[in-house]
Order: sequence, then structure tokens, then C-alpha cells
Amino acid sequence: FAADVRAGLTKPNQKELLSKYLYDDVGSALFEVISHLPEYGLTRADERLLRRYAGDIVERLAGPVAVAELGSGSGKKTRQILEALCLRQKTRYYPIEISPTALAMCQRELSDIDCISIVGFEREYLDGLLEVAAQRRSGQHLLVLFLGSTIGNFDRMAGLKFLNQVRRILQPGDSLLLGTDLVKSSSQLLAAYADELGVTAAFNLNLLARINRELDANFDLSRFEHVAKINYESRSVEMHLRSTSRQIVDIPVANVAVEFLEGETIWTESSHKYSPDEVVQMARTAGFRCDVQWIDDEWPFAENLLIAE
Ligand code: AVI
Repeated sequence: FAADVRAGLTKPNQKELLSKYLYDDVGSALFEVISHLPEYGLTRADERLLRRYAGDIVERLAGPVAVAELGSGSGKKTRQILEALCLRQKTRYYPIEISPTALAMCQRELSDIDCISIVGFEREYLDGLLEVAAQRRSGQHLLVLFLGSTIGNFDRMAGLKFLNQVRRILQPGDSLLLGTDLVKSSSQLLAAYADELGVTAAFNLNLLARINRELDANFDLSRFEHVAKINYESRSVEMHLRSTSRQIVDIPVANVAVEFLEGETIWTESSHKYSPDEVVQMARTAGFRCDVQWIDDEWPFAENLLIAE
């Protein structure tokens, strides 16, 4: 963490912090609140599609299936798929999660489903998936879940590279259920990422608070403000933290002091939005066939069932 903070805040042009660090216990709890905000329809669209189509998704999977989930979060969305699968088979579920708190929560949330056995991996996504693949029984297929449009937090090239890496771990006939948030109006996006109540602002500012807590830094949170802006070129919403005055911040554990000019920003996250065709094309380039795409009719969001070729 200290090394990444130092590298990101000493970049010559745009200072940046990696978005994965937004999710400590406080950040994860704030994200959970964001997912209930009226302006942020993404999580509800994801949940609606899974509720509505879990049966169809499961019907399209051949043979006995084990389920792996990249970034399980609380496990609430996954219940629909697991319950549908349980109607036909006993199911092994592997949540892969770097946050031990989220992993424990997910195991608690899903432990009441009878025919399921849960084996959690506290790992980065690809490391965890490699371990899951190593435990696969012969004749068993894998269904990998990557929900919530987490792929949107990678830039487009990195997203494609990630899909390629997942594909290389899978075998032909395995599947990947990929959630992707779709392109929508700027006003809808800005409302979603700069909500009226200020929860997204708190989520973003918590990153500075986390650096204070863990790296003994002296960020004055009242001298930074949350900014959400649209990047039309990359078709993404960016979150930044803008310094409202010239200031110097000490981060002793990272062994650095950082100067901020008035108005200078730290780029903390990008959330890329896709067109349905683009997802199909991206999947194809990575070695998947897009079997079906379900699109929510209230909030443009797609659940894509991709089959490894
Ligand atoms: C987790 N991820 C898909 C969220 C998003 O919409 O990009 C994170 C988020 N950032 C601000 N609000 C929500």
C-alpha cells in the first residue's frame, strides 16, 4: 500500500491512487450504501437481471458445474444463481476476495443454502481462479461470475487483457457471467457518481482517511473535495479528489511529503461504460462466444453469458 501510494502521488503530471484501495472495511460499507442510493441504479439492475434470469442462465450450462466468483462482496446477488443451480445438483461455490471481512460476510450470507459447499479464497482474482481450476473434478465445468461491472474499473485495454487471462485459465465449454454497465446520459452518470447525500464523496475521501490511518499521514480532509467528471474519449466516469488550496502532506510510512497546488487533483477511479456490441466483440477477442445478453429495461446494464471456445 505504502509503495503504491508513494508511486501514485509522485507521478509528474496526474497524481493517482489505485481504486482497489477504496475498499477497506469503511470503503466497502460505504459502497454498500451507494448501491442503495436512488441515483445509483447499477447494483439494482444487476440484481434484477439475476433474479429474473437465474433459471435461464443455469439451463444454458452443460453438465455438473462448480461456481467461482471474482470479488464476491456480500454474496447477496449470487444467491439467485446458487439456488437455481441447487435445483439440479449439489454445488461447490468458491468466492475469491481480497477482503477477509467481505469473504466472511459472504460465507455467512449463503450458508443457509442446503446443497452448497463454500470454499473461500482470500486471494487476488487470477491467483484465486488458478487455485479453483486446480481443484476441478474431471468432467466438471466452471461457471465464473464477475458481476457488478467491476470490469469497468479497469481501462479498456486492461479489461480485455483480464478477460484473456481468465480465458486461459478456463477450458472450452466453461462459462463466464459478466456484468457490464452500459453507456447512458451524462446527467444520469454525474448524478450516480456525485450523489446528493454525499455518500460517494465520503467513499472517495475515505481513501485519504485510510492513508492517514494506515500510513500515519496528515491529510486534512476538509481541504479536498470529491469530483466526478465524464471522460468522453474513454467513455468513462472519473472520480478525483481536488485540493482546494496549496498544501503539503506528510506520509511518513511511505517516506514521502507531497505538494498539492490549488485545484490539483488525485485521480482515484474510472468507471467505463460499454455498448452491448462492444462487449460481444471484446469477449470474442478474448476467446469467448457471447451466448446471451440480458439487458435491464430500467437502468442500461447487461448481464452477458460468455462461453469459452
Ligand atoms: C465497483 N464499481 C463497479 C463501482 C462503479 O460504479 O464503478 C464503484 C463505484 N464508484 C463510485 N460509485 C461506485
